[in-house]
Amino acid sequence: MPSSLHNTSALILRNRAALTAPLCLLNPPDDALAIQLQQERHELLTAISPDFAVFQRLRPALGTAITYCAWPAITTPAALVVIFQPREKKLLEMWLAAIAATAGTGTEIWLVGENAAGIKSCEKRLRRIADAVSKKDSARHCSLFSGQVVPARAANTLADFAHWIDVGYRNRNYRLLSYPGVFAYRRLDPGSALLMESLATAPVAGDLLDFGCGTGVIGIAAADRDGVGRVNLIDSNALAVAAAEHNSAAHPRLTVFPSDGYSAVTGRYDHILSNPPFHQGVRQVLAVTERMIGQAPEHLRPGGELRFVANRHLPYVATAKRHFASVRILDRDNRFQVVSCRRPLRI
Ligand SMILES: C[S@@+](CC[C@H](N)C(=O)[O-])C[C@H]1O[C@@H](n2cnc3c(N)ncnc32)[C@H](O)[C@@H]1O
Repeated sequence: MPSSLHNTSALILRNRAALTAPLCLLNPPDDALAIQLQQERHELLTAISPDFAVFQRLRPALGTAITYCAWPAITTPAALVVIFQPREKKLLEMWLAAIAATAGTGTEIWLVGENAAGIKSCEKRLRRIADAVSKKDSARHCSLFSGQVVPARAANTLADFAHWIDVGYRNRNYRLLSYPGVFAYRRLDPGSALLMESLATAPVAGDLLDFGCGTGVIGIAAADRDGVGRVNLIDSNALAVAAAEHNSAAHPRLTVFPSDGYSAVTGRYDHILSNPPFHQGVRQVLAVTERMIGQAPEHLRPGGELRFVANRHLPYVATAKRHFASVRILDRDNRFQVVSCRRPLRI
């Protein structure tokens, strides 16, 4: 758990005297705010996280008060719901619809986010489900808005936010469900496409792990290839897990489960395939992918391969060479390269 508080958390703490209970935190940051609030005086605190990493870190302290879910329904009564702004505006709209559909009329809502992430333009979205909306505070390059839930115009559910992507791959068409905030949302990512093409030129066989599966496109396409056995798909984003579960429901050899990196992965695989993440909020993060590479040897069978695609400017080949004796570029275009890593330097 990072010891320093995020700027959004600091802004909430600045306003702690106005916090009312029961209090629900939606999408709390990866810091100690939720634990601090629970210890101070908000024993009537619940939290909802769509991020398995945050959920796993807060779970020991919050116990059953924190839930990990794709559709943030307010199932425990709350006088105040504090929303930490997600990066995608469409995802915020979905969360607001979930709150409008499940929180009682008059429930107070606070919406906090970084100015650089566009929190100011979110005020108008809050107005769609709340009245008496106003700016409550701003500091540390963040703003905090508040309002009160008005009766919902529509009783939305998660299904109302489904979006479909058609992916043509090797004479087959995959119609994949996606949700706001899930990668990919509108179309197949060109990096994923390059990795999928490599499955034909350098075939995979045996058991596979799709690390950071998003909609599940890579694992689903790989599962259709000859010689492939069990395919496990993992992601930390609850909406990605929900989408991938839907998309793989017809394939008995596919299993989807939430995991922060390899945190929930127990077995070993013949291939780990990934188009790994490189954004968290508005920041580029390399740490998840660095860990994916560094810990891959513990999850590969003898002779196994880690194969990933990444932007060519990212420093992952150097990382891979610190952990594998054989690091090869299988394919590249002007933006991406597919890297194949074999023969771990330690197991
Ligand atoms: C670039 S997307 C690739 C999605 C999908 N494989 C595709 O090719 O369309 C990276 C994925 O990694 C997931 N992710 C981010 N952090 C993660 C973590 N700590 N553990 C597991 N998955 C993570 C994201 O939610 C996202 O779905």
